[in-house]
Amino acid sequence: MFQEKLKILWNKKVGPGYYRIGINCHSGYSRTKPGQFVMLRLSRQIDPLLSRPFSIHRLILLKDHARGFEILYKVVGKFTKKLATLKKNEFIDTLGPLGNGFSIPGNIQNIFMVAGGIGVAPMVFLASYLKNTGVDISRCRMFLGGRSKDDILCLDYFDQLKMVVQLTTDDGSAGDKCMVTQPLEMALAESPPEMIYACGPQEMLKTVVVLAQKFAINCQVSVEAMMACGLGACLGCAVETQGASGKYLHACLDGPVFDAFAIKL
Ligand SMILES: Cc1cc2nc3c(=O)[nH]c(=O)nc-3n(C[C@H](O)[C@H](O)[C@H](O)COP(=O)(O)OP(=O)(O)OC[C@H]3O[C@@H](n4cnc5c(N)ncnc54)[C@H](O)[C@@H]3O)c2cc1C
Ligand code: FES
Repeated sequence: MFQEKLKILWNKKVGPGYYRIGINCHSGYSRTKPGQFVMLRLSRQIDPLLSRPFSIHRLILLKDHARGFEILYKVVGKFTKKLATLKKNEFIDTLGPLGNGFSIPGNIQNIFMVAGGIGVAPMVFLASYLKNTGVDISRCRMFLGGRSKDDILCLDYFDQLKMVVQLTTDDGSAGDKCMVTQPLEMALAESPPEMIYACGPQEMLKTVVVLAQKFAINCQVSVEAMMACGLGACLGCAVETQGASGKYLHACLDGPVFDAFAIKL
């Protein structure tokens, strides 16, 4: 884990309210796993003072060594509004890579990935990582949902990988007009996978977990908890475990990716 100021390589608008920021880094990031995140802080700013968590969207590699990483982000409030104004060659405070990413059991080939809205950000990294570890990614299915067509991101990337993509939007402006969990349920009934990986809004994750339970499929979810430190120090990111013990885990240290059946969403 590294705490440092890193140079911005680019910061481009990729859709209404969505940006991709490329950040220069060193080879210490080479072993980053999909699902891991970085805490970003605006250098020399006291408002907002606290850093914010963002998933690694993509590693920029040169001869297998990380030279940079990219973050896909949605402008939602004070921090992300200011983030969108940063320019190439400016610096940003970073702490990362942090947390536990998706774990990939050996020999799995049949995988469903489910992403809602900006939850697609770590899925691009996950898909390329799976491909590099020998998974036939064209046999894996991507269930991609958003509020409208403007919230459907990275489709071209999954198409390039020849993944079977099932698109849904709440308003029907792209793909089927329904929740992303609807085609997921049908596909689970037809040809259940060995694993479901999911990232998105809490309500979507809850339904994915219910379906995973119904069809007895292993499932890992990346949860969005409030994070102030990213290091297990502020207790802001508590996630309750299943069972009567009332035990809590830290989303920043033990997650943000969890076995779906181990936690209460
Ligand atoms: C592990 C993890 C990975 C994430 N990855 C991405 C990503 O790849 N792309 C992306 O656009 N967003 C990501 N987020 C969410 C991102 O952190 C928030 O959108 C961002 O912090 C909003 O800050 P803001 O000041 O612009 O908005 P605010 O006005 O402060 O908040 C808007 C909303 O953002 C969320 N949020 C605010 N502060 C935090 C915080 N400290 N920790 C977590 N959530 C917060 C809350 O839901 C809040 O209601 C991730 C969150 C987590 C926990
Ligand atoms: S973010 Fe501070 S303990 Fe997890």
